[in-house]
Amino acid sequence: MAGIEGEEVGLSWQGDIGVITLSSDPEKVAILNEVRLKSLSERIDEVANRAACKGLIICGSSTRGFCLGADISAIESVTDSAVGAQLASEGQSIFDKIEALPCTTVAAWAGPCVGGGCELVLACDYRLALNTTATKVGLPEIKLGILPGFGGSQRLPRLIGLPAALDIILAGKIIDVKRAHKKGLVDVLVESSGEEAKDLQALLKAGTEVVQGTREVQRNAMSFMDRLLTFTSLGRSIVSKKAKKNVMSLTKGHYPAPLRALDIAVEGLGLSLREGLEREAKALGELIVTSESKSLVYLYFLTEKAKKLGRSVNDTLEDARVGVIGGGLMGAGIASSILGKGHGVTVVELSKEAREKAREHIESYISKRRSLSDSEKKQRISLLEVAEDINKIEGCGIVIEAIVEDLEVKKKVFSKAQEILDENAVLASNTSSLPITRIAEGMPHPQSIIGMHFFNPAEKMPLVEIIRGEETSERAIVTTAAFVARLGKFPVVVEDVPGFLVNRILSPYIAEAGSLLIEGVPVDIIDDAATSFGMPMGPIRLLDEVGLDVAQKVQHIMQDSYGRRMQAPDFLKSLIEDGRLGRKNGRGFYEYEGKAETLDPGLYKLLSVASQPAASVDRREVCDRLIFSLINEAVSCLEEGVAGSPGAEAAGQIDLATVMGTGFAPFRGGVIRYAQELGAAKVKARLEELAQINPDRFTPHAGILRRAGEGSSFYDA
Ligand code: NAI
Repeated sequence: MAGIEGEEVGLSWQGDIGVITLSSDPEKVAILNEVRLKSLSERIDEVANRAACKGLIICGSSTRGFCLGADISAIESVTDSAVGAQLASEGQSIFDKIEALPCTTVAAWAGPCVGGGCELVLACDYRLALNTTATKVGLPEIKLGILPGFGGSQRLPRLIGLPAALDIILAGKIIDVKRAHKKGLVDVLVESSGEEAKDLQALLKAGTEVVQGTREVQRNAMSFMDRLLTFTSLGRSIVSKKAKKNVMSLTKGHYPAPLRALDIAVEGLGLSLREGLEREAKALGELIVTSESKSLVYLYFLTEKAKKLGRSVNDTLEDARVGVIGGGLMGAGIASSILGKGHGVTVVELSKEAREKAREHIESYISKRRSLSDSEKKQRISLLEVAEDINKIEGCGIVIEAIVEDLEVKKKVFSKAQEILDENAVLASNTSSLPITRIAEGMPHPQSIIGMHFFNPAEKMPLVEIIRGEETSERAIVTTAAFVARLGKFPVVVEDVPGFLVNRILSPYIAEAGSLLIEGVPVDIIDDAATSFGMPMGPIRLLDEVGLDVAQKVQHIMQDSYGRRMQAPDFLKSLIEDGRLGRKNGRGFYEYEGKAETLDPGLYKLLSVASQPAASVDRREVCDRLIFSLINEAVSCLEEGVAGSPGAEAAGQIDLATVMGTGFAPFRGGVIRYAQELGAAKVKARLEELAQINPDRFTPHAGILRRAGEGSSFYDA
């Protein structure tokens, strides 16, 4: 077990107080890999064996962070549940040793303290944290399809009460230090001076005072009600029922981890800590080998890889000012994301009304950011400029256009913008349907023109497609990717084809939903089929979100570009004529009032459709028709190199794009991964059956036929 520099855990002594530093490299936040855990265990033994030891303070080596949790590659590699349970037991035994130390133990940290790091601090007597917006604590394990396995599911409920603990564990939450203090997860907030060396000193000083008893610690005691809900079996059963209902409504039962974590946390409170920990380790072993966990870990690595795209030029963007041309729905959202990350933004918008609305939207977004302090919010807002004159983009390193979807209008704006900007400034279009190559045609610097396709709402959606026009330079691609990553979003580089990647894959799926509808399959059955598979919403609901007028435009473009496989009956026309535009005007397929949505039974008459009785509908077939239309198109994109040369890399990009851009069931790891899990032969056979309903859409793509014949993988070229 060879260690690398920085993985050794340090121990120094200040008189009779030991100070453990989790990482010896201040540039790196500690990860609890095998080497570091072993080293930590040895240091704790040294503390235990020291004759005169009054206390132990455990801290990080910088304010960048304390600990990012367990090594996720180790989670990925476990395929045997006994090995998983053993790993958990080993980690637990180290934290048990901390808890058993006879001296006072204090964790004192700044920055993130998550997963195994949080479980470590839970084993200490006291938790002190620097009061900054960067200091956070939480247990995100559920997001990887497992549960906290180093004692978190047992110690957290005992410390802060069952309801508050489940709120963190079941949602995989990481919370800010102020909330953690309120909940009793942090005992002392140490004020920051803004200077790293002084802050580290202040943490150490506060820790020393707690050990010496010269600083009084007032814990936020659990309320009487929380004690009842945590430490009585009746209370626990009430909390458990409610939490279970909540989990089921959020996950539709697709994710085993939250249900298992709930049982383990609740049962554990009726047992000794030791028994609870044993159950926790066993449950971790069971969960770590599930396909859901493997898919979520796979996605985690895909997101990490995407974030690294363009890392080489990241530093050059540090102070980049960004221009956004067009301050409508998308422009305001994009500008909000950018300002939220601290870049100055100049929004250029022609309409006065839209300028006012854009400013209001952006300022309201910033003022609601919990991750920003009041002074940071003020500072961010001071970096916003909203102007009518396009010349104001002068000096911007990146400019994103989000004006009307009209080629000629866009070309005029691009031409003007390139006159104003430096030739290397990236000029991106947020177009959803126009070819980037066409926009760049005749421009003075086509190498700097690129597509940067955000999804709506831009502030929330994590994916951005980067579209390579024929003349786009590598430099522009790398810079754009780095910028997207700075926004905390995931870039996927795709070719300049109609619909790019995400809308192209979605298109036959939406068209198929239209075909089903016109055949008389009730709307709720179509939508349920998709959500039961694991989609966040059904295709008909999705149409309402996109807007029926916008969807109709896209549908026509896709039909014209790809022909019959994207063709759907014109099921949107009569609704649009009836004034139904979707969620945006409160009426689409569904009718919206506040948060409630209802289906109007008059809808079928409007569509001239005789709705089939629910009992006669083959729900499995409905689901397969939707999902296999996605698979067939995804393989077509893979084979055509839309996401890069066919192979594992491109398949990974398609998986990431489908999960982050379409919401494709994350526990299935993406469309290609799902196809791979079924196997090419099965995919081919089912598509051939469905081709009897619609040969244009379902005749298996050559890439499926070939793999079925060879028995090869979708991840091979
Ligand atoms: P929008 O109509 O809400 O906003 C466009 C804004 O651009 C308007 O406020 C208009 O006054 C302004 N504008 C027009 N010409 C201008 C010019 N020469 N200079 C400055 N401002 C100008 O449209 P939306 O929905 O924001 O779409 C903008 C772009 O984003 C389009 O290319 C669209 O295809 C794309 N897009 C839209 C998505 C959506 O869901 N709405 C999703 C992804 C991309």
